[in-house]
Amino acid sequence: MFAPTVIKTPAVITLVVWLWRALAALARTVWRHPVACALVAVSGVGCYLVGWRITVMGWGVAAGAVSSWAALWPAAAVRVLVWPALAWWRLVWVYRWRWRAVMAVSGLGVTLGGRGYAPELVRVRCDRNTDRLTVKMLAGQADQQFAEAQAGLSNGFGAVSCRVFSPRPGWVTLTFPRRDALARVVPARPYPDAPTVTTVDVGIGEDGRPYRLQVHGTHVLIAGATGAGKGSWLWSVIRGLLPARRVGLVRLWGLDPKRMELSFGRALFDRYASTPDECADLLEEAVAVMHERADRYAGVRRSHVPTTQDPFVLVVVDEIAFLTAYQADKGLKARIGAALATLTTQGRAVGIGVMAALQDPRKEVLSIRHLFPDKVALRLDEPGQVDMVLGDGARDRGALADQIPRHPTDKSVGAGVAYVRLENRPDPIRVRAAYVSDDDIRQMVLKYSTAMASEVR
Ligand SMILES: Nc1ncnc2c1ncn2[C@@H]1O[C@H](COP(=O)(O)OP(=O)(O)OP(=O)(O)O)[C@@H](O)[C@H]1O
Ligand SMILES: [Mg+2]
Repeated sequence: MFAPTVIKTPAVITLVVWLWRALAALARTVWRHPVACALVAVSGVGCYLVGWRITVMGWGVAAGAVSSWAALWPAAAVRVLVWPALAWWRLVWVYRWRWRAVMAVSGLGVTLGGRGYAPELVRVRCDRNTDRLTVKMLAGQADQQFAEAQAGLSNGFGAVSCRVFSPRPGWVTLTFPRRDALARVVPARPYPDAPTVTTVDVGIGEDGRPYRLQVHGTHVLIAGATGAGKGSWLWSVIRGLLPARRVGLVRLWGLDPKRMELSFGRALFDRYASTPDECADLLEEAVAVMHERADRYAGVRRSHVPTTQDPFVLVVVDEIAFLTAYQADKGLKARIGAALATLTTQGRAVGIGVMAALQDPRKEVLSIRHLFPDKVALRLDEPGQVDMVLGDGARDRGALADQIPRHPTDKSVGAGVAYVRLENRPDPIRVRAAYVSDDDIRQMVLKYSTAMASEVR
């Protein structure tokens, strides 16, 4: 039997240790909550110097001044006061309160040599809809581990979901939605004031702010089950490009093999095809334009700037599977496949983009899906399809496209909601496309159809 030696510590040493710990805790509190500590300190000093009545009056005057400022500039007041105050409240009472327990239970904390270690919660930021936590990972930890624990994290902090993003090595950002900004239908976005080509306002992001999708210099794949709202993505992009099309900076080429979607606004397309033969011809024409531009640009420039001579050509394809998989004529299928592969591999540098929608994201249906740099996953039928569309690990990072809700009768529930994964940003973002109704499309045709456009020119 071995027992550790018991050394009697003199009381003074114990007191010094306690005092030291109390000082360290005080310093830590001041460092973590400078505003709250400053308020307490100013009140204390005020009471000591001028008495509590004058201190209370002083606070009353300050509160009045702040309220008047908030009434005059409410948006600024919400940004400067409300969200930071809410962030502080949630940091203290939700996140820090449960932090160590949640880290331990979700497997992100470790015990080494009898001591417990957990990732450090550095900051909480709030906006209207989400909480964003900045976390310093433990040395040797990977953001993948957080991605794998996202279900436990959302459960632990009482959120419906959690998204994980690593902005730089050693750090991870956890996003917890508080309320769903995307629960309501987003009406068609207003036309841009000035013609824009590079990015288009297509809807609302999870933070409640307009979301701009890049269309120039990329290709976009939009996948979703039937009724998921692929049409709203296609039409929102088309709508945002119409002013640029009117001034000749954009050309819209529509391929509508199902004849149920783009035909409705046919007059908005500079070129349009619906039968497989026409589609193959049109795609080959796009390839020819691409080669002609590549010949001219070779050795002169390396990227495309939209001009009226060389406008950005967006080839919009609804239900691309009709052309690539469900096409019985093998010759046509091969021609279409070759043209699409050529466009998606070489088109973007010369100003030709492909935006394609499809229901079934399997490789057999669209073998070139990896050639689309930017991807949009609307509601999907199975969890396995999420990574097929957005790339490996997307679902682990919170892209729960298979859980986007649907309603047996109300088609608008969850329609248009999607996870977007961009080439230059691996973490998926949740966005709802604006719903461009039939009336909106009619109005777009009236305002921007080819006849009207040539009149303007
Ligand atoms: N962004 C949206 N917001 C609200 N409701 C929408 C939105 N997009 C679509 N809807 C509703 O969902 C219905 C189906 O949408 P849409 O036709 O675009 O689906 P889809 O994905 O193209 O389906 P399919 O593959 O069968 O063509 C629309 O008629 C509309 O009622
Ligand atoms: Mg459709």
